[in-house]
Amino acid sequence: MSSTASMPNEPQQVSMKFVTLVSIVAALGGLLFGFDTAVVSGAIGFMQSRFDLNEVEVGWAVSSLIIGCIVGAAGSGVMSDRFGRKKVLIFAAILFIIGSLGSALPDTFTGYIIARMIGGLGIGITSTLCPLYNAEIAPAAYRGRLVALNQFATVTGIFLVYFVNSGIAGYGDDAWDIAMGWRWMFGIGVLPGLLFLILLFFVPESPRWLIKQDRPLEALPILLKIHGDDLARQEVLDIKASFKEESGSLRQLFQPGLRVALIVGVVLAALQQVTGINAVMYYAPEIFKATGAGTNASLVQTILVGLINFLFTILALWLIDKVGRKALLLVGSGLMTLSLAVIGAAFHTGHTSGPLVLIFILLYVASFAVSLGPVVWVILSEIFPNRIRGKATAIASMALWMADYIVSQSFPPMLNTAGPAMTFWIFGLMSLFTCFFTWRVVPETKGRSLEEIETLWTDGSAASAASPASSASTAAKPQGDYPDPESGAWVNGK
Ligand code: BGC
Repeated sequence: MSSTASMPNEPQQVSMKFVTLVSIVAALGGLLFGFDTAVVSGAIGFMQSRFDLNEVEVGWAVSSLIIGCIVGAAGSGVMSDRFGRKKVLIFAAILFIIGSLGSALPDTFTGYIIARMIGGLGIGITSTLCPLYNAEIAPAAYRGRLVALNQFATVTGIFLVYFVNSGIAGYGDDAWDIAMGWRWMFGIGVLPGLLFLILLFFVPESPRWLIKQDRPLEALPILLKIHGDDLARQEVLDIKASFKEESGSLRQLFQPGLRVALIVGVVLAALQQVTGINAVMYYAPEIFKATGAGTNASLVQTILVGLINFLFTILALWLIDKVGRKALLLVGSGLMTLSLAVIGAAFHTGHTSGPLVLIFILLYVASFAVSLGPVVWVILSEIFPNRIRGKATAIASMALWMADYIVSQSFPPMLNTAGPAMTFWIFGLMSLFTCFFTWRVVPETKGRSLEEIETLWTDGSAASAASPASSASTAAKPQGDYPDPESGAWVNGK
């Protein structure tokens, strides 16, 4: 790429082209995440008949993928530090393709479980690495948007898969669905997987990782494309300087100030799951069947769930920088509590035949989509200091997948033992706790630079920042265009 410094608009244009390419890859990673985690919702009923599964096995059919996700998320940091972000993402795309094909073909339940775990490894890796890769390659100004875009792609994947599942289920009768339909549902995942794999060959390696490997000459052309000539060389220096600070180990996370950040991250990640969203996302058709709807009606209602999730995520993208993360979390978890209380009551009193359950499940999903869905991922990308963000986010992400595992594994037996009313009330209690936890502990991060957020933990002001009244950023903003790598002071670029 030739120098663009003499043309004021050029660096911005070059950067946008690049950011778009990266966004497409991020979007596909998110899409696979949503697609593969939700595909089982349409297939599970038919698989239950095909393999004659009991409740525990049904839970296992859904959550085996999550086991792979936990392992994939845990290993992604170490693997990508060693082999590079791009290579590990390519590896994940291949795992995903193998997982999709493998889940579609087997004649034994064990064969299916193994294939889902392999696919899960791929999802665990992409769910952690796509945001990380974006954060490392995107210009700072686009970073937040890219994280939220990832969530948007996830819900698009979920929505798409409900649609595809419904189309496949409607194609044949119940006998065909039990024999073949569910296989097509999994098998079709090969297509987005292949697209992801092919596109990955067109994106560059993370310049940050290249510099860490002491390969700045390979990083510079990439940074030139992103930032233009003026800032690219400075970026190399800045990244090098940031690694000097990165001698910090995980132990830092357990010291008094940052410990709060870790607690906020891990607890919010777990709460995003134990408030029950994936009981609805993965088992929606089964829940609707329990209210008396037929196979096709329940799949159509499930599409409605996907549509509401999709539309309200768009609303969240619009609101997140306007009203702030905290306000969305408070209102969202409050409304989730209300809806879950009503759904529980409907099952408790047997009033499930009318539209009541559907309406409140939709309200619950809308409330999640506008709050915990995107906001938790955004907060996870914001609250940890630069130098330990990777490791800390991996810990929180593992907590999220583990909580997801517990919910998806225990939901079917809980429906059977505790009953649907008690199950939804437990999710409701968790939502109430989320509201309380957010109010008391979670600081507002809207409008603060990452450096300002970092100081919230170290100077002990996180508690006061947890109060919405103090959420407007009043701290002095650094002056200048970039930090001097030697002194750390902010200096002007021109
Ligand atoms: C969660 C997923 C969930 C999805 C639903 C995401 O933020 O992490 O577990 O399936 O939202 O939209």
